[in-house]
Amino acid sequence: MNRKISVIGSGNVGATVARSIADKELADVVLLDILEGVPQGKGLDMLEACPIEGSDSRVLGTNAYADTAGSDIVVVTAGLARKPGMSRDDLLNKNAGIIKTVTAEVVRYSPDCILIPVTNPLDAMCQVVYRESGFPRERVVGMAGVLDSARMRSFIAEALNVSVENTHAFVLGGHGDTMVPLPRYSTVAGIPITQLLDEATVEAIVTRTANGGAEIVKLLGTGSAYYAPGSAVVEMVEAILKDKKKILPCAVFLQGEYGINDLYVGVPVKLGVGGAEQVMEISLQEDEQAALDKSAAAVKELVEILGV
Ligand code: NAI
Ligand code: 2OP
Repeated sequence: MNRKISVIGSGNVGATVARSIADKELADVVLLDILEGVPQGKGLDMLEACPIEGSDSRVLGTNAYADTAGSDIVVVTAGLARKPGMSRDDLLNKNAGIIKTVTAEVVRYSPDCILIPVTNPLDAMCQVVYRESGFPRERVVGMAGVLDSARMRSFIAEALNVSVENTHAFVLGGHGDTMVPLPRYSTVAGIPITQLLDEATVEAIVTRTANGGAEIVKLLGTGSAYYAPGSAVVEMVEAILKDKKKILPCAVFLQGEYGINDLYVGVPVKLGVGGAEQVMEISLQEDEQAALDKSAAAVKELVEILGV
C-alpha cells in the first residue's frame, strides 16, 4: 500500500489500533514496542488475519524505529500504567520520559508525519510530544475527545432508544474527571438532548461520560479500556488519510482560542490531510466557559510539573 502508519506501543490500545487499520485496509502498519517478540508476534498474527479480512495491508511488528521510517501518521500508545506505590506525579514523570524518547525517535525517521498521542495523562503528554517534536501544532493532535464523545453518544442512544448514528455529542476540556460534556450542543437528529431528556437524565449522562474511563477500569480490574479507544484513534486516522475535513473533538495546542493560551486541551477541530487544520470556536455560556477554564487549569498543573 502507499500509506504507512506506525503504532508505538503494542499493548491493548496499540494492538487494537493496528488490527483495525489493517482490517479496514487503510494503510500498511508498523507496530513497535520495547518488548522483544511481542510486537513481532502480534504483527504476524494480524498479517495472517488479512487474507480472511480481504485486506492487502502489510503488518510488521518490530523493536527498531528504522522500520517506521517515512510514516504518514504515528500513533503513540507507549507508556506505563500506574503501579502500587507510584504516585500520580511519578507516573506523570515516567510517562513523560518515555514519550520524550519515543518522540525523538519517531521524528528522526518520520519528520513529516502527523503524531497522534494517546498515552495518559493525555493532554500533558501531547504537550511533551509537541515540544519535543518541534512540529507545528497542526501535526500533533491528541486522541481523547472522540472517545469521550462516543461514550456520551452510547449513553444518549441508550436513554432514548435511538440509533447511535443519530447521535452527536460534544465534549470539551482535558481528558480527565474535569472534562466538559456539553448537553446544549449534544443532539439527536439535530435536536439538542436538553429538549428530549429530563434534567436528571441529562445530568446522569454527563456524570457517566466524565467517569467513563474509570467505569471500565473498575470492571476490568486490571488495565483500562481499549476497544473504544482503538476505534476513536482509527476514526481520526481515517479522517486524516482520506482528507475528510471531519470535525472531531481532539486535544490541540490552543493559542488564544477559548481564552486558553499555550496549552493542549480538547476542542472541536477540522481533521484533514494537514492534521488539525482548523480549531472550531463555538460560543459558550458563562458556566460552560468556567467548567472549561477549570479543566484547562487541571491540565496546566501537570504541564507545569513537567516544565513543558
Ligand atoms: P498497555 O500497558 O497494554 O500497553 C502499553 C505498551 O507500551 C506496552 O506494551 C509497553 O511495553 C509499551 N511501552 C512502554 N514503554 C515503551 C517504550 N519506551 N517504547 C515503546 N513501547 C513502550 O497499555 P494500553 O492499555 O495499551 O494503554 C496505553 C496508554 O494509552 C496508557 O497510557 C493509557 O492510559 C492510555 N489510554 C489513553 C486513552 C485516551 O483516551 N487518550 C484511552 C485508553 C488508554
Ligand atoms: C479511558 O478513558 C483510560 O483514558 C482511558 O478509558
